[in-house]
Amino acid sequence: MKIFAHRGCSGAYPENTLAAFRAASELPIEGIELDVHLTKDGELVVIHDELVDRTTDGTGFVKDMTIDQLRLLDAGSWKGSRFEGERIPFLSEVLELFTETQHILNIELKSDIFPYPGMADKVMALVQFMELEERAILSSFDHEVVRYLSSEYPHIQTGCLTMEVMVDFPDYLKKLSASAAHVLFPTALRQMGQELKAAGIPIRAFTVNDESYADLLAQAGVEAIFTDYPERFIQQKSVSSLE
Ligand code: G3P
Ligand code: MG
Repeated sequence: MKIFAHRGCSGAYPENTLAAFRAASELPIEGIELDVHLTKDGELVVIHDELVDRTTDGTGFVKDMTIDQLRLLDAGSWKGSRFEGERIPFLSEVLELFTETQHILNIELKSDIFPYPGMADKVMALVQFMELEERAILSSFDHEVVRYLSSEYPHIQTGCLTMEVMVDFPDYLKKLSASAAHVLFPTALRQMGQELKAAGIPIRAFTVNDESYADLLAQAGVEAIFTDYPERFIQQKSVSSLE
C-alpha cells in the first residue's frame, strides 16, 4: 500500500507549504497530495480552503485576491512560531521540489465550490511544461472537471473524489473515463470498496492518520492512503508485511 503525504507532511508542518512538501520530499514514501486554487489574476496557488482565514494571517477568498496580495500573507505562524514566514506557494514552486524525485504528484483541483474557469488547462500546461505527466494524478470533488480532463487529456491519470457511499461507482467512473477512486477511507471498507476492487479500479483513501487501520485497508485492496503523518506508516511498513 502506497503512502501519500496529505497536503505535504501536514501533521508536523503547516499544510500545503514548501516546508511541508520539502519534508515529504525527503521521506521514503510514494507520493504527495496538494490542493490548488486560482487567484483573481489567474495564478495557480497551493492552499486547501477557498478562504485564506484558517491557514494565514489574512482574510478573504483566494479568488478575490491577487497573487501579490496573497504572497504577503504568513501561511506558517498558525502552526507554530518557528514556521513564521512560510508563504502560500505557487503550484510551480511545489512541483519544483519533486522534479528530481520519483514521487507521484496528486494535484487536487479545488473547483467544486468556485468553478475557476481555465484552471484545469493551466494545471495541465504546467505539468506538461515540467514534464511530470507520467507521475501526475489530477483529482477533484468536481466531477465535471474530472470528465473534462479525461476527455481533453486522455493520457493523464485522474481521480474522482467522493465523501459518499456510492452505488455502482465503477459504472460512474467508467462513464467519466476516470482512472481511480479517491474515497473517504471508511467507505473503502463497504460494498463500494469491494465493487471497485472487483472492477480493478485503483482505490486511494483519505485521510488515514491512525496506523491501526493500515492492515484492514490493505486487505480491502486500497492501493494508497493519504495521511498527514506519513512517518507513522513508514514505521509500520518496516515492521509489517505491507507492500
Ligand atoms: O485528495 C484527498 C483529500 O485531500 C481530499 O480532501 O478536503 O483534504 O482536500 P481534502
Ligand atoms: Mg486535498
